[in-house]
This record gives sequence, structure tokens and C-alpha cells, in this order.
Amino acid sequence: MLHLPTLIEAKRDGEELPPDQIRELIAAFTRDEVADYQMSALAMAVYFRGMSDAETAALTGAMLDSGDRLHWPEGTPVKVDKHSTGGIGDKVSLVLAPLLACTGHWVPMISGRGLGITGGTLDKLESIPGYRTDLAAGEILATLQTAGAVITGQTESLCPADKRLYALRDVTGTVPSRPLIVASIMSKKMAESLDRLVLDVKFGSGAFMRDEEQARLLAAAMVGVGERLGVRTSAVLTPMDQPLGEAVGNALEVVESVAALQGRGPADLVELTLDLAAAVADCPRETLAGCLRDGRAWEAFCRMVGAQGGDVGALETLAERHRAPFVADLKADRSGRLVRLDAGLIGRTCVQLGGGRRRAGDAIDYRVGMDRIVKTGTEVCAGDSLLRVHAATPGQLAEAVGALGAAAGIE
Ligand code: URA
Repeated sequence: MLHLPTLIEAKRDGEELPPDQIRELIAAFTRDEVADYQMSALAMAVYFRGMSDAETAALTGAMLDSGDRLHWPEGTPVKVDKHSTGGIGDKVSLVLAPLLACTGHWVPMISGRGLGITGGTLDKLESIPGYRTDLAAGEILATLQTAGAVITGQTESLCPADKRLYALRDVTGTVPSRPLIVASIMSKKMAESLDRLVLDVKFGSGAFMRDEEQARLLAAAMVGVGERLGVRTSAVLTPMDQPLGEAVGNALEVVESVAALQGRGPADLVELTLDLAAAVADCPRETLAGCLRDGRAWEAFCRMVGAQGGDVGALETLAERHRAPFVADLKADRSGRLVRLDAGLIGRTCVQLGGGRRRAGDAIDYRVGMDRIVKTGTEVCAGDSLLRVHAATPGQLAEAVGALGAAAGIE
């Protein structure tokens, strides 16, 4: 019989918890038999003491077993997915899922909302009128049968223990704990019953993990758990010091994704999408690149959006539909080479503009953000635009342009 105070004390004192006790704990938590204060105390003990690989695998398996998994009929295509730990302007999922679908894979992508300063795939897609992100398991399968890709939210029955534990971590200072992050992310990905998974682990000013070494340890832990649970898992580490692509903000990022799907995407976004897709695909990178150039990926995206209730006709007019009333340039204050464009500050400013949530449940303003973002390494002249800010009010516009002055470094 599980004695919670003893379990909490053991972790507090740095002991390794036996896997069967971890499984019992999560089963009891899912049945509502563990008080929130006890689970929070345990999360804090894990935050300070960490977990071994065996403990992390047991926690991930237990969270996975707290709910249902997606089940696939016999003979369906190879199931693949990608997970990013989150960055600024990271819209890769919107391009990668249809790209893999049009080359014969199934992509059952369960995505999340914005977290902290990083944007969320579901929030971005919801800027498309009618697009549904609350599909039930049967609808997920039907969408895959029609479109080969689906991007939707966590259903009530997928990893309920993670949903509850995440809510506690969010308000108890225990989000940035490697074993807890690994178990949270990997349990949800394993519930998709995948054949292959690629992880994009970000590091830098706009990422969860500030330094490369921390990102490397997180990547190794996630790959280890994925492989233990029978999914071919790989990871790439990518810098997140400047935004990915040239747009940040919900509708602005969908507009940029549409451009990439039509073969007109910014080079960094396209290259990263192809690298990640090639890591799980059955076909060569060149075939994938061809699908972006010849319109097949775009057609697959339209099929997915339509199957999820979205207005396909609105996709090419989203910029007008979500046009922010106040737009201004951030200008270079001197001539030289742009050596820094701080992704973290850009992400925080986007949240301030209303493009992210400051509290759970806040409404998102799809119109706001930044576009025409110049990449570092570019030579600029004093007065050149470094990016354009889109705001809902003149006050917010002025504040954002003022704050963003500190984001740019020119030498
Ligand atoms: N995303 C998740 O789903 N869980 C975490 O713990 C961190 C990021």
C-alpha cells in the first residue's frame, strides 16, 4: 500500500523511487486519490533531486497508461511526428505535417497552446475561421484517412495525469524540471502510437533551455525514453537566439506557413522543416523539397484544414482578415551588420501585444506580432527597417517599438 508521506520524504532525501511505486502513485493521482499539495510537494522534490533514467521511464509509462492511446487499423501508413520544445516564430509543424502526409505518411499530431513566451500551434491554426482543434479519437482517424495529417489538441482521455500534473507544475515553480518535462512531452507523443518521432530541442534566449548543454541533456533523456517505449526517436538541437522565419504572431505565422507550403518560404524555416521531416520520412530530403516547390504540400495542407472544419478559401486572405490597425517599423539606429535580434524579447513583446496569454484562458489577438524580420548577419543602413510591428492600439504599438529597440545589436 502506497504511503505518500514516505514516498515524498524518500525523493526529498534524494532516493531513487521504485518503478512500481511511481506507477501506483500516478494511478492513484489519476483516480483523484492524491491531494494536490502532496503531488506538488513531490514535484518540487523531483525538481531539486531529479530522477534516474529508470524513474523517468516509469513516470512516462505511468502517465501514458493514465488514459487512452490512439489506435490504428491494420495496414495503415507509417505514423510519424515531430515535437519541438518551443521557440519564437516556430511554425514548422504547420508545414511539416502536410509535407509528410503528401509523401505517404500519417501524421497524428497532438499539439499544444502557447506556453510562456513561445507560441502554440493550436492558437496559430485557430486564426483560420472554422478550424477545429478539439477532435475526438474517431475524428482524428477520419481526418487522417482524408488528409494524411491532423493537428489537434489533447483529448480528455489522452494522458489525463499529465494534464493535471502540468496544471500543478505551472503554478508551483516546477515546470523546468528535466524528468517532469520528459515524462510530460513523451507520454503525450507515445499516446499517438507512432512508429517514428523526431524532436527539435531548442536552446537560446527564446527557448526553454538557455544553453546547449541543457538542451543536449533534455534531448538525450527524451530519446532514451522514446526508444525504451519502442518508438524510433531522434533529436536535433537548434538555436533559438533569433526568431525562426520572418514572422512572429498567430495569423502572421500562418501567412508565412502558407508561403512556405507554396514554395515561397524563408530559407531558415524551409531548411529546418526539411531536416526534421527527412529524419522520420521514408523518402529522400530532395523528394520532400520537391513537394514544397510543386504545390503538393500546399494541397495536403488545404485537405487537412478542410477536414478539420477550416475555411480553405480564407487561407490566402488571412493577412487582410486579421490586419492589425496600427503598423510601424523598428528602424536600425546605425549602419553595420545585424549581429543580434533577441528572440526572447521579441516573444515577450508579442505576448504584451496580445499575441499570447498572460493568464490561462486569456483571449488571443490573432492580428498582432511582427513580420518582415531581418535575419542576423545582414548588413543594414541607419533607418532601414529591422522588422514591422502589428498592434491593436497606438499605445501598444509605441510601447512595443520602444521595447524592441533593445532587441537589436548592430556592429
Ligand atoms: N511541454 C509539455 O507538454 N510539457 C512540459 O513539461 C513542457 C513543455
